[in-house]
Amino acid sequence: MCGIVGYIGNQDSKEILLKGLEKLEYRGYDSAGIAVMNDNGVQVFKEKGRIADLRNIVDEDVMANTGIGHTRWATHGVPSTVNAHPHQSNSGRFTLVHNGVIENYDILKREYLQGVALKSDTDTEIIVQLIDLFVNEGFTAEEAFRKTLTHLKGSYAIALLDAENNETIFVAKNKSPLLVGLGETFNVVASDAMAMLQVTDQYVELMDKEIVIVTKEEVKIQTLNGEEISRDPYTAELDASDIEKGTYPHYMLKEIDEQPLVMRKIIQKYQGDNEELTIDQEIVEAMNNADRIYIIAAGTSYHAGLVGKQFIEKIAEIPVEVHISSEFGYNMPLLSKKPLFIFISQSGETADSRAVLVSVKEMGHKALTITNVPGSTLSREADYTLLLHAGPEIAVASTKAYTAQIAVLSILAEVTAKSRGLELGFNLVQELGIVANAMEVLCDSKEEFEDIASKFLSTTRNAFFIGRGIDFYVGLEGALKLKEISYIQAEGFAGGELKHGTIALIENGTPIIALATQESVNLSIRGNVKEVAARGANPCIISMKGLETEEDSFIIPEVNELLTPLISVIPLQLISYYAALHRECDVDKPRNLAKSVTVE
Ligand code: M6R
Repeated sequence: MCGIVGYIGNQDSKEILLKGLEKLEYRGYDSAGIAVMNDNGVQVFKEKGRIADLRNIVDEDVMANTGIGHTRWATHGVPSTVNAHPHQSNSGRFTLVHNGVIENYDILKREYLQGVALKSDTDTEIIVQLIDLFVNEGFTAEEAFRKTLTHLKGSYAIALLDAENNETIFVAKNKSPLLVGLGETFNVVASDAMAMLQVTDQYVELMDKEIVIVTKEEVKIQTLNGEEISRDPYTAELDASDIEKGTYPHYMLKEIDEQPLVMRKIIQKYQGDNEELTIDQEIVEAMNNADRIYIIAAGTSYHAGLVGKQFIEKIAEIPVEVHISSEFGYNMPLLSKKPLFIFISQSGETADSRAVLVSVKEMGHKALTITNVPGSTLSREADYTLLLHAGPEIAVASTKAYTAQIAVLSILAEVTAKSRGLELGFNLVQELGIVANAMEVLCDSKEEFEDIASKFLSTTRNAFFIGRGIDFYVGLEGALKLKEISYIQAEGFAGGELKHGTIALIENGTPIIALATQESVNLSIRGNVKEVAARGANPCIISMKGLETEEDSFIIPEVNELLTPLISVIPLQLISYYAALHRECDVDKPRNLAKSVTVE
């Protein structure tokens, strides 16, 4: 989703801003722009399309030590050069970039800007025109900025330039993520640390309703009322090489291949001195104090939550409900007396999940966030955090975060079960080790998955994923992976549910990808495959060793039955990857999608 960068210092800002925007490309965007400021004023360059297109129009001869930049993922107004940020006030004095959604922009437009000719369809332009208006009424730029912020309803991360003060970037944040990065002779602004890792690894988090006056020497954080806030910086523990593709053609493929390594890292991070798995005692107590657990998540993280429910119910014997975050806020079920909320989010920034977190905290409930990003909003605002340790996930399609989420959920269930004196019947450290080895075998079988993709998916317009029990949940994830990157219409179904309607869609050659990794339902899922095959479908069965038959397309190595999602998903990730490649899709940056969905 939209990304912001800003630089103020002694160097020429253009290249720093453009490189920063390239690092934010993974978030998803449809247009981009930069504004640079020197003694001659502010120059804006913006373009629909990729950063590479923007680079082509930036005037190389302009030298400026201050600038802001933006990648836009359209919400208000189509993707276009006019709607791209930065936006300028009609006087040309103020130039601004914004992430988030201004919910009352229409009201503000009618109330304050009747006579102002707006250039774009965006909610953002309202902000910059309001600042101009208040300055014309006699306020200083800083006062006008503050006054404007008090009128805004919704979410924003803002960086503002004032052409009459080229020594300052004005910054503000509410709900949308924003960081300030510190340097010796410069300071920066960024939606995430990755963008500005090129110049600094020292960052200060900003909280909602704070504003920051950034100069090259100083970063002054204040509340909207002007009270000074002091906050220590933290070191972003990111390795620049973690965010490079290396020799891989796509981040997605690199991240799929990283999964065995991530499994081993998770085991190591969650092992205590005695090699037993361990998590913070406070979290275990919160689990044990709960009479019901509510897992809240979106997309792939929601699918991981469905698998997590199986673990927590079967291993730790606590009832669990799993909810889509965008629904939960408006359609809250009757809660149990002692609920514990678990938020699962790779980015830790998903606005739909954050909205639920805010309301359950207001209701006085405890919350645990499982996330890949330390210091992310969902991590900061929950009572407890469990980290995924998966390393940055750049491809929009989530892969290693999904398996990391499932592994961490299995550890949470195991440690809770043990604290309740429940017997597991297996050693999770060993079982996860077997999973990591099995993942390696699958990652080494790419050619077979490329063949499957070409045999089943090269020309189809739709595909169905079926499974029963835990395989059904993995099927949902397989369908999401395939549709988001290859644009093949794909749906996941419970095997037994097809005949209640969806089987009407089966035509000659319709691909059915069936998962058969569970002994208890092996015969029934195979029965469902026969039903669709009899109606012309083209079945591709992925089974587990020990349950295989001759008709299967691929047999995954044997692992503990409960943990099969950790490996049965890898064929689905790779099949989706190759299907997208065959169709010449932009694998890492699928159309219309954003990595970090920071608007509700
Ligand atoms: O960062 P989050 O885990 O909260 O993101 C949730 C979804 O937006 C995300 O999983 C999305 O569905 C991915 N594109 C799936 O590959």
